Amino acid sequence: MSPRAGVILAAGQGTRMKSATPKVMHAVAGRPILGHVIAAMRSAAVSRIVVVTAPDAEDVRAYVAQQGAESVVQDRQIGTGHAAGCAGALLRGFAGPVVVSYGDHPLFTSATFDASFVARERAGMAIVAFRSQSKAYGRVIVDRDGLLDRIVEYRDASETERNVDLCNAGIMAADAGSFFGWAAKLKNENTQGEYYLTDIPSLAKADRVMCAVVEADEAETMGVNSRTELALAEAEMQRRLRANMLDSGVGMTAPETVYFSFDTFIAPDAQIDPFVVFAPGVTVKRGAHIRAFSHLEGAEVGEGAIVGPYARLRPGALIEENVHIGNFVEVKNARVEKGAKANHLTYLGDARVGAGANIGAGTITCNYDGFDKHFTHIGAGAFIGSNSSLVAPVTVKDGAYIGAGSVIAKDVEADSLAVTRAPRKDVSGWAEKFRARKKAEKAKKT
Ligand code: UD1
Ligand code: CA
Repeated sequence: MSPRAGVILAAGQGTRMKSATPKVMHAVAGRPILGHVIAAMRSAAVSRIVVVTAPDAEDVRAYVAQQGAESVVQDRQIGTGHAAGCAGALLRGFAGPVVVSYGDHPLFTSATFDASFVARERAGMAIVAFRSQSKAYGRVIVDRDGLLDRIVEYRDASETERNVDLCNAGIMAADAGSFFGWAAKLKNENTQGEYYLTDIPSLAKADRVMCAVVEADEAETMGVNSRTELALAEAEMQRRLRANMLDSGVGMTAPETVYFSFDTFIAPDAQIDPFVVFAPGVTVKRGAHIRAFSHLEGAEVGEGAIVGPYARLRPGALIEENVHIGNFVEVKNARVEKGAKANHLTYLGDARVGAGANIGAGTITCNYDGFDKHFTHIGAGAFIGSNSSLVAPVTVKDGAYIGAGSVIAKDVEADSLAVTRAPRKDVSGWAEKFRARKKAEKAKKT
């Protein structure tokens, strides 16, 4: 197989989004739309990917570089065909096929990219089409052999052409050398005065290169032009992610209420209760149980651990085997070791909790002094009494006890007890006298 190249068009302003963020940087399942297209191409063995960007889109180019792809600048946004041609600056000499895709289609799969390359080998060129009546898409007119005759933009289409329900998805595969040759010949004689990518197949046809039409499902071909379409794409992506999770053996009683990120990894036989949100960077191991209304991000949950209900795991939360993290417990940048428990109302930030330790309700690691973050060590088997503040940097050594309500600002020896409490004062009969006095005062007033 000769190496494959890819071009992704992402220089458009995306004005219909009404956003300062470039359209392709809006997230679907926690990853920019553009990232989904890059990843799908990569899985289809596309080794060189060039993204066409607008002159002021520094953040898009930084993201592209971070994803290991290349970028070029399209000086003026004068059409998709002109945009694709700009990639020629890097790919003109590429010996092999190139696939061109729009950057605003987060649901394209690697299988569809692959199918376009395979169809191109047979016919000479290939495009991907799908069935829709939407005015948003160009119409695909096929000849009697089922090969492409031409693509007509909806705006430029006749009444008969508009009634065709075969639409241009936005994937085109061709030999790289020929493609950039055709791109250079495009004209802008249409209602928009733009250089259309969709005119390339007609130029190819004039050179006797035929174009196959690969049909794909609308569920993966929808483009994102507005906030409404972004929400629809998110819903479709979530449907896909949930189906994959269930297929791989993850248990979910109400999958339609669970939200995943593109990179969520959950092992088979983990159980996810309703209304759980997985932001990016989460791994959940076998037999773990994530209970309702929990939010996880950048965290790892070990085998057999129980998290939630109403727990929040933030980046760097490392929950080891059989740990229990209960309701209204927040964990950030903290390793909670085997079998430890923090069951209620607790903040564990910049900390290590040793194996088997018990963290009482209302325990707070005071990790921030307004300038710097400090670390709290809680030893194995330690017991932190309810409503204690551990003022970092501080170490509570293995097996120590902290009396409830303590403020611990200095290290605590192993197996000792530390308790800080104001001395207690008891005044016997005080309450009774107090009530009597109040009653008398009230009687006087009325
Ligand atoms: C395009 C297609 C249409 C297809 C539809 C699928 C053309 C002329 N039309 O229409 O047939 O059915 O997509 O969603 O190709 N872009 C640039 N530079 C430009 C213009 C656009 O990089 O000068 C990029 C945009 O950032 C976007 C992509 O190309 O990612 C498509 O552009 P857009 O304006 O959204 O095209 P559509 O009108 O949706
Ligand atoms: Ca579009």
